Amino acid sequence: VTIFVPRDAVAVGLGAERVVTALTRGAASRNLDIRIVRTGSRGMVWLEPMVEVATPEGRIAYGPVRPGDVESLLDAGLAEGGAHRLRIGRPEEHPFLARQQRLTFHRCGVVDPVSVADYRAHGGYRGLARALEIGPADTVDAVKVSGLRGRGGAGFPTGIKWNTVMLAEADQKYVVCNADEGDSGTFADRMLMEGDPFTLIEGMTIAGVAVGATRGYIYLRSEYPNAYQILKTAIAAGERAGVLGRNILGSGKDFFLEVRLGAGAYICGEETSLLESLEGKRGIVRAKPPIPALKGLFGRPTLVNNVLSFAAVPWILEHGGEAYANYGMGRSRGTLPIQLAGNVKYGGLIETAFGITLRAVIEDFGGGSLSGRPVRAAQVGGPLGAYFPDVLFDTPMDYEAFAARKGLVGHGGVVVFDDTVDMARQARFAFEFCAVESCGKCTPCRIGAVRGRETMERLLAGEAPAEPLRLIEDLCEVMTDGSLCAMGGLTPVPVMSAITHFPEDFDRSSRLPL
Ligand code: NAI
Ligand code: SF4
Repeated sequence: VTIFVPRDAVAVGLGAERVVTALTRGAASRNLDIRIVRTGSRGMVWLEPMVEVATPEGRIAYGPVRPGDVESLLDAGLAEGGAHRLRIGRPEEHPFLARQQRLTFHRCGVVDPVSVADYRAHGGYRGLARALEIGPADTVDAVKVSGLRGRGGAGFPTGIKWNTVMLAEADQKYVVCNADEGDSGTFADRMLMEGDPFTLIEGMTIAGVAVGATRGYIYLRSEYPNAYQILKTAIAAGERAGVLGRNILGSGKDFFLEVRLGAGAYICGEETSLLESLEGKRGIVRAKPPIPALKGLFGRPTLVNNVLSFAAVPWILEHGGEAYANYGMGRSRGTLPIQLAGNVKYGGLIETAFGITLRAVIEDFGGGSLSGRPVRAAQVGGPLGAYFPDVLFDTPMDYEAFAARKGLVGHGGVVVFDDTVDMARQARFAFEFCAVESCGKCTPCRIGAVRGRETMERLLAGEAPAEPLRLIEDLCEVMTDGSLCAMGGLTPVPVMSAITHFPEDFDRSSRLPL
């Protein structure tokens, strides 16, 4: 009997290892022959650890399984998919998954993340084979046709970036994956790296072949030790299987891949400070131009993409750019892996075509707030994203629709708040975050964030709001126009959205002290 238990950090944090121990013991005492396969997560976080068993009707899931549930599960006939209060049924038929369009994540939670054979058995490496067959120009063309835009948050057309690096002439080019997933409430990069790292590895290999780079680096945040181990194991397995390193798939092309760990700085998710850090220097933002596509790592043309951008590519190459472009709305083509978190009943990973409304994400998928109180705000796009009130919840997830409402889709993180949230404190937090994480290179951000936090504190202490708010508005204008990168440039977004949509929270002068 094959039993699948996730090794994703969330499942492990919720006791997956102890569940494995209990399963092994319980099976031994019953003389039951079981084989435990460690998978990734399907992304239904509230059901973790979710255990699945292979049956003639497909996989049957149970969750959330605590170590203390294992005995009763085995007694109920877990091995045959028997009835139990934790029985979920076929995971693909669960409404949370059945309503998604999983292109990038279709193998995540299904395959053994460190097995090349399993990856190939589930369609892996067809994209790379196709890319090798059609050559660099047509590969870049497929990415262009797909309409894929940078999933790190900026939404720059990926195919155009690939084209720039492909056309650049140099003795050495690089492919760099930005896996410094620092946005609050986001976890899609981690989930993919822990659950299906070969999709990322294959995407990077396709990129290397297309742009003419023989070396790739995954810059991973140090807060992801599980992902680090899994990536290292997967890369070694890839080299042994001939899908990485020298002469990949017998094509005569080489692609060497390494993982490098960051050291806990949010700003190292900004591509130029990431490159500085990768070169062994302090992570400080470089002025652009020159863009990394022309002058990046060690001064060479470098393709920098987010985990999810690379991971979208194998599907695009296998099925064609048009097939990917068939999903989505407007200029936002394909699917967006949305990460739903915060005060929400059913949090997790929702990969679906662009165009779904924020309300559908929070209510239909998320089931409303966990506290049962009314949802008051949602912050979309990480700590630099806007807070949207209920009246904006019908905004579709689309880069342009969010920009038109002074917000951002960013990396697809949605953090939900109920009516106990204090938006003036959230605005102060935005400045505080910027003050802590600023690299210090430019004045509007380095000084502005500190002054902004101080001014918000005066307001929180009960000062009449007119003067501090005027100062904050001025400050935000300077930060937006004068900052060198998105850190200082976008901090005004959460601040101004809180002031605009929740003005009632900013007048503390008439309130009685608590
Ligand atoms: P950007 O708009 O300056 O650049 C986007 C990308 O396009 C960069 O890789 C840039 O080098 C490239 N590019 C620009 N012009 C090009 C050209 N002509 N040819 C080839 N490539 C070109 O934005 P930036 O500063 O890279 O990212 C800002 C975004 O990052 C924000 O919108 C925010 O949503 C997101 N973000 C994401 C975080 C995460 O954890 N994923 C954290 C913080 C911010
Ligand atoms: Fe550094 Fe902030 Fe300026 Fe970006 S905006 S370069 S983080 S000081």
